[in-house]
Amino acid sequence: MKYRSRHAYLIPYFFLVFGLISQIQAQSPDSLTRGPYLQKATPTSMTFRWRTQSPSIGVVRFGQAAGKLAKSSKENQAVTDHEITVTGLKPNAKYYYSVGTESATLQGTADNYFYTFPTEGTAKKTRIWSLGDFGNHSARQYHVKESFKQYVKNLGDPYIDLWLWLGDNAYNRGLDAEYQRNVFSTDTGYAGDRFMKQTPIFSTPGNHDYAGNNNLRVSLNIPYYQVVSHPTNAEAGGVASGSESYYSFNYGNIHFVSLDSDRYDDSTFKASNTRFGELSPQLAWLKKDLEAAQKNPKFTWIIAYWHHPPYTKGTHDSDTEKQLRDVRMNLLPVLEQYRVDLVMGGHSHVYERSGLLKGHYGDAVTFDASTHVALKNEKQNSENKSTAFVKDRKAAVNEGTVYVVNGDGGAGGGHVKTGTAQWPHNAMQVSYDGGGGSMYIEIEGNKLTAVMIAADGSIQDQFTISK
Ligand SMILES: [Fe+2]
Repeated sequence: MKYRSRHAYLIPYFFLVFGLISQIQAQSPDSLTRGPYLQKATPTSMTFRWRTQSPSIGVVRFGQAAGKLAKSSKENQAVTDHEITVTGLKPNAKYYYSVGTESATLQGTADNYFYTFPTEGTAKKTRIWSLGDFGNHSARQYHVKESFKQYVKNLGDPYIDLWLWLGDNAYNRGLDAEYQRNVFSTDTGYAGDRFMKQTPIFSTPGNHDYAGNNNLRVSLNIPYYQVVSHPTNAEAGGVASGSESYYSFNYGNIHFVSLDSDRYDDSTFKASNTRFGELSPQLAWLKKDLEAAQKNPKFTWIIAYWHHPPYTKGTHDSDTEKQLRDVRMNLLPVLEQYRVDLVMGGHSHVYERSGLLKGHYGDAVTFDASTHVALKNEKQNSENKSTAFVKDRKAAVNEGTVYVVNGDGGAGGGHVKTGTAQWPHNAMQVSYDGGGGSMYIEIEGNKLTAVMIAADGSIQDQFTISK
């Protein structure tokens, strides 16, 4: 009490200073609060997203030499959420850029550069960072990020071409404020990391992004769609989906497909609680898209990703959850028909990885290696925990799909331990529940290499697929 009374005369001054600071902040256009981050990349275009404290007319300046950003593109009106797509770029070329206003540069460091995609069909060494269930502002999220950065540093800090978000990107309800605190922050999030400036992000939504709300799963009225900008019109190849909820794109000799395993196609599917049912528009689009990709000799690889995995005994059980059963029974036959090589999901906060599988649509107990392992042409090396798969590109029959659960990017929880649900899942060759991790994937021509980097920096799995 004594303290308060002695300093009471300072209170008006405090409010005066605080008011002045707020006013300056409100008037200043030069305060970056999110990003920049890269979206909707193609061989000839790039979309830039960023947020400012107050409304301003955004400008992107770009050029092929550092410090010589001769070209620019600007917005028509003052906004706080900025989005500019620059077109007419050269394929497979390095561009430097800055974001700012007409009078100021808000960010334009030596790290602000990217590479446009290679021309469709042109194989290029491709590096990918893939992680799911990450944005929860935890120590695990931080350590997963730091261990990946260290791993890449040991490789000589190469450019990362693609960054895949496997859903449940921001806990707990996918709110804009949760994206801000958990994903676009500098502590556990990725602001300030060069990947945020350089690597186009391609994401898929999870149940937390839909806030677990069935109405939102039909309306799609969630912050996720304000945060991301995804191809709807085959901007980077594939068949146009007409929706940011699911889409495809091509990177060199790889065809990527992102599905939405949490939405309902419409209220009828909501009423029956069914995903990827027979009349699902998403499934119909997927068939068209995969058929075209599989026929096209330009593509060596087809990689699909979505949030809910078909096989898991982690924090979720694929035997008991309807959603995961729907994915397994309705979706997998289509993926196998068109010979998808690799499927990645999250949802379970563990890491699990199968061999080359086909035709397993039942519960874990029905898994039979003699019928469900498509190809046993593999070599396992227990010393460095690696597996080498060899497929025949021109094989007459489906040689199987590797399924990965990679929902270990931040959220915790452990695996299922009780009842009939036994860890690990029978279909999995590798199952890790040791405190988080993410994946580094490298594809060069007809060889794919994937490495699981745990939060403690250890390598818990690596596999190659050669064709
Ligand atoms: Fe999830």
